Amino acid sequence: MNNEQWGTRAGFILAAVGSAIGLGNIWRFPYVAYENGGGAFLVPYLFALLTAGIPILILEFGIGKKGGGSAPLSWRNLNQKWEWMGWFQVLISFVIITYYSVIIAWALSYTKLSLNLEWGDDTKGFLFGDFLGVTDGVWNMGGLQTHLILPLVIVWSIVFITLYKGIKSGIERVSKFVMPLLIFLFLIITFRGLSLEGAAMGLNHFFTPDWSKVWHYKTWIAAYGQIFFSLSIGYAIMITYASYLPKKSDVNNSAFITALGNSGFELLAGITVFSILGFMAFENNVNISEVAAGGIGLAFVVFPKVINTLPAFNNLFGFLFFGCLVLAGITSAISIMEVVVAAIRDKFNLTRERAVVWVTAVSFSVSLLYATGAGLYFLDIVDHFINSFGILLSGLIQLILFGWFYKLRDIREAGNATSDFRIGAWWEIILKFITPSILLFIYAQNLIGAFREPYEDYPISALLTLGAGSVLLVMAIAWFFTRLSWKHSKSLNKKGVA
Ligand code: ALA
Repeated sequence: MNNEQWGTRAGFILAAVGSAIGLGNIWRFPYVAYENGGGAFLVPYLFALLTAGIPILILEFGIGKKGGGSAPLSWRNLNQKWEWMGWFQVLISFVIITYYSVIIAWALSYTKLSLNLEWGDDTKGFLFGDFLGVTDGVWNMGGLQTHLILPLVIVWSIVFITLYKGIKSGIERVSKFVMPLLIFLFLIITFRGLSLEGAAMGLNHFFTPDWSKVWHYKTWIAAYGQIFFSLSIGYAIMITYASYLPKKSDVNNSAFITALGNSGFELLAGITVFSILGFMAFENNVNISEVAAGGIGLAFVVFPKVINTLPAFNNLFGFLFFGCLVLAGITSAISIMEVVVAAIRDKFNLTRERAVVWVTAVSFSVSLLYATGAGLYFLDIVDHFINSFGILLSGLIQLILFGWFYKLRDIREAGNATSDFRIGAWWEIILKFITPSILLFIYAQNLIGAFREPYEDYPISALLTLGAGSVLLVMAIAWFFTRLSWKHSKSLNKKGVA
């Protein structure tokens, strides 16, 4: 049993929703949906929500609650041979936090820059030149962009202090404050967006389905990838958070609330972003496709442009938008770090404080790599590989192990016994047959595709070392941690049954 616990049920749900709602919802979802068929993307997306999102969230809540500790400890407590999976997930989280923190730091800088619209008219030139100092290629690191260090330190300090204070007085408190504030502020942006001229055109574009994309495996990878990343499943966050639940807590209803809240916010972000892009297209008298951009270009190139063009309150709007990115990102960053902190703490029998100091020191140092002139390249490659190969693989193995080598029914019954409502055998059927088959199929396609059509225009050497290399390294280090012996056996279950 974990010695720390959530103070209230609302606190736990807000922390879970706070983890789920993050950068992935605001800047990733709109362009992923747009690039994969717009309105038609909602079909695979909803399918992924129902077959992976909600069922896996219930499973992860169950694993954490029954396993009673960090991911490696929980996996080990459920089956002695499964500790490696816990570490695999923990290390995926570690990799994510090292660049996720950097994107929040950019957003923090942009919050300040928006006060004077300091990015000027050439927003693209500003981002890649003055701001990121992007070099001419991935192997040319350039120098450390020193102006990025202060915002990065601020982001890390907030994460550090929150985790240092623990579950109840740290994570729960911050989530209870940040989440309502974020939703309030974001709604202001939404209403402003919808009231702009051209908004309807943007929405039309967003929701007009391009059915030709629905049958492409890439659309399905994008849909499942989005659900996993956005709902914080597959990389141990929900396992860790659920391990702090009191024994009698509900899990089924909390999973539905978290998943639907996350997807609701995601759709809201899509509507907001596209109404604003509609305005931009209207102002310039061009098609939406000419103003929409993928990746970080959407938040950091297109949005500053939109902010320049707004008829009034430009600075305030910019401040709110980038401020919302920071707020959304910070609660997610906290949850990703907690995964690593909890694991190190359990394995090496450290106090929370010591584990937080160690893990933050290492993660902060690695995050500096992304603040160099090649940082954007590193980020793009690592993010792509960790998402489409790391997280999806972790999700797939998790389903195979629990579906085929564990009595899923035990987890379902344990959850049903304390939940607001019961879930039926459909849950087991989905987790055992349907979702692993789909994931296996798209994963194989994705793997073949990666060889046929290397990602973007990066040199193969970079894709192999930074991309495939980071996934393989994560697996190897997971093996190394698994080999180390536990420094105490307090929460270890010798029989491998919790
Ligand atoms: N789930 C978090 C996000 O969507 C990590 O950004």
